[in-house]
Amino acid sequence: MTGGGRPPEWWRDAVLYQIYVRSFADGNGDGVGDLPGIRSRLPYLRELGVDGIWLTPFYPSPGHDHGYDVSDYCDVDPAFGTLADFDAMIADAHDLGLRVIVDIVPNHTSSEHEWFRNAIADPSHPHRKRYVFRPGRDGGPPTGWTSAFGGPAWTLDEASGEWYLHFFAPQQPDLDWHNPEVQEEFERILRFWLDRGVDGFRVDVAHALFKDRDFPPMVEPVPRPWHGDWLVALLQPELHDLYRRWRAIADEYEGDRMYVGEIVIENQERVAQYVRPDEMQLAFNFALLFAEWDAADIRGVIDRTRSALGAVGAPATWVFENHDVTRLPTRYGGGMEGLRRARAAALLLLALPGTAFVYEGQELGLEEVGLPDEVRQDPIFFRTNGRRLGRDGCRVPVPWEGGPPAFGFTSGPPWLPMPADWEELTVAAQTGEEGSTLELFRAALAARPRGEEFAWRESPPGTLVFARGDLVCAVNVTAERLELPEGELVVASNELRAGALPPGTAAWVRTDGSRAKETA
Ligand code: NOJ
Repeated sequence: MTGGGRPPEWWRDAVLYQIYVRSFADGNGDGVGDLPGIRSRLPYLRELGVDGIWLTPFYPSPGHDHGYDVSDYCDVDPAFGTLADFDAMIADAHDLGLRVIVDIVPNHTSSEHEWFRNAIADPSHPHRKRYVFRPGRDGGPPTGWTSAFGGPAWTLDEASGEWYLHFFAPQQPDLDWHNPEVQEEFERILRFWLDRGVDGFRVDVAHALFKDRDFPPMVEPVPRPWHGDWLVALLQPELHDLYRRWRAIADEYEGDRMYVGEIVIENQERVAQYVRPDEMQLAFNFALLFAEWDAADIRGVIDRTRSALGAVGAPATWVFENHDVTRLPTRYGGGMEGLRRARAAALLLLALPGTAFVYEGQELGLEEVGLPDEVRQDPIFFRTNGRRLGRDGCRVPVPWEGGPPAFGFTSGPPWLPMPADWEELTVAAQTGEEGSTLELFRAALAARPRGEEFAWRESPPGTLVFARGDLVCAVNVTAERLELPEGELVVASNELRAGALPPGTAAWVRTDGSRAKETA
């Protein structure tokens, strides 16, 4: 893939740290994280050992979906700073050797975006055609499509009697990507940020932009699965030409600028279609977000992913946490047991071949926070009348140092309350603390294999053992015990028991590789 002696592209085995901007670090005391706050904490990330950061949207936004409702794609929301703050932050990041990728939200704008305001104010305005307006059917919406946030995917524009499409909240009207003007506008937006030096883009709902012009019925499976393979009106063929053009734009710039697509489907062969050599470089692989703590399940995910993506020459990506799902220790059962498993998963994540994503606070072992209803902010909670709690519990700000109420995150009141018992989980408390989750991540990031061949090794049921060159990663998922492979112990997620790994424990061992008994 790298032909002609060219060094491998940086994104092929990078570790990218996801910053949920509202919750990372607040520089001005208003209780909301911001760009100056991020800038002040870049040395922490350098020292942690990640290769770069992904920033969730910081563009002007009324905040109905906390930044995923963008009202101006080429500016910074005053709550998060200014363009000058962005320039200063990215300059510092680059000086520290950190890449910076930003979120781009092309499926929908905010209802406060100038284009949508024009579209609503005057149905004959050319901007009306940038959105999906349709007459209703039988006194109701044009189709029975449902919003990912609950409720119908159409809202009536009473003045005109037409309905507009929104796959998310009504304040997030979907753009009509069949309209060439929309395509041109986004090319301009990509260039705006590429010119400012970003190393790439995380493409929000990358599988959804074009809708089938025939508006076919989409019957939602019940219960609704996490993956959207059933969304037949999305996943349209036009996406491939679009991403080819976007790729060509990124390739005009120096420095291997890249895209990572949020393609929320399970079928990895279909995902692979978006990361062929001339399309996006990476796609999130969400399978581990939903896999149980089960060795056979996890191995199945790894094999299916590697084989599907390997066929198109794209690296796999690995994700255990992000701002949309319950924190990992909680998913794995909570308490000491959940944390133990999440720590073992960290060694798995950082040993797998490809690109790894770490979500802020994952390196601290944070659990999902149970919040009272009155502080919840996620539109999912409101659109489902509280049936789905939504994502606020994984978005509680990062505890940096000291004690409640804000643990150094802000000098004001944090935008979501932080648990009073987080004192021992702060970055300061875990720094230098033997056995802390933070030090585990630091050790693993420093020793992480890069580029080395992957090969499974035989191991008993309930366990996973594989080699990356001379580093062996052994994970005891649920077996009674797993013998530590021979060699020098590099890092272990928890204490060994009589030289073996108890359940929910992983370790890396350096061997000379020659004793390896490899399996297919
Ligand atoms: C996916 C993002 O990760 C999520 O946070 C957001 O709500 C939706 N896309 C809509 O933009």
